[in-house]
Amino acid sequence: MMGSHRDTETQRGALSRVPVVRTRAEVREVVREARRAGRTVALVPTMGFLHEGHLSLLDQARAGADVVMMSIFVNPLQFGPAEDLDRYPRDLERDLELAATRGTDLVFAPGAAEMYPHGAPGVQVVPGALAERLCGASRAGHFQGVLTVVAKLFGIFQPDVAVFGQKDLQQATLIRRMVDDLDIPVRVEVAPIVREADGLAMSSRNVYLSASERERALSLSRGLERARALWAAGEGEAAALRAALWSTMAVPGVEPEYAEVVDARTLEPVERAAGGAVMAVAARVGKTRLIDNAILP
Ligand code: PAF
Repeated sequence: MMGSHRDTETQRGALSRVPVVRTRAEVREVVREARRAGRTVALVPTMGFLHEGHLSLLDQARAGADVVMMSIFVNPLQFGPAEDLDRYPRDLERDLELAATRGTDLVFAPGAAEMYPHGAPGVQVVPGALAERLCGASRAGHFQGVLTVVAKLFGIFQPDVAVFGQKDLQQATLIRRMVDDLDIPVRVEVAPIVREADGLAMSSRNVYLSASERERALSLSRGLERARALWAAGEGEAAALRAALWSTMAVPGVEPEYAEVVDARTLEPVERAAGGAVMAVAARVGKTRLIDNAILP
């Protein structure tokens, strides 16, 4: 297994955990060895508290590269002052076991001091107008924090391929744009949303939901299903699809934030929904902010 000789933390007993390293230098050494052996490297960046959605990213990464590495870092830069940085769920031991079930070769789990030894970086990636719409409208600075940490992870791992989830569609779009605009030599892949049996999009934040909130949270995926059915029946007006999304989310205890039909590349609203357009929703259910989307076939 890659890098197992330098794993100081995980082989002290449990065979079923992935080797974990804490420093950028250790990652660079493992990557250097992989390259020397002529192996390609995939990176799956996460904030941990893994679920099946993250594990599906590992599967996709495995299909595209010889060595699969995951980062687990709850990135303070991408949380606003009133957001959930302190209570964001964390369970590294469980994550290491789950990642092992998909044959992950290495987990990088740095602390904030390792990632940002001088505090918040003075130079950051400014995402531009694409970050001002949808989630960016209510989360000032969020995507700057995301792009800055992802650029840093790309610098540390220099992966051939990196895999992100479609649930964070605006994030994935911005990362693709950053790689393109800044000529970063990595192939960005986006893996489909993984849902619970009842349709709820998997998210680490679902753990915040009480039983009744979880039931109400289904209004997001149900709205997308309803709008998709309308579209399949011939409704191409974005306004009609938006209305279906809003009305399905009109449930007590659900505060919709946006429901839009946008172009997948520019994230600009469209008037008529052609195949490939994206329906995207965000809502607060209790104190938990949830997002979901569907790409029209
Ligand atoms: O999607 C996430 O978990 C995070 O935004 C990411 C990409 C790991 C950056 O912190």
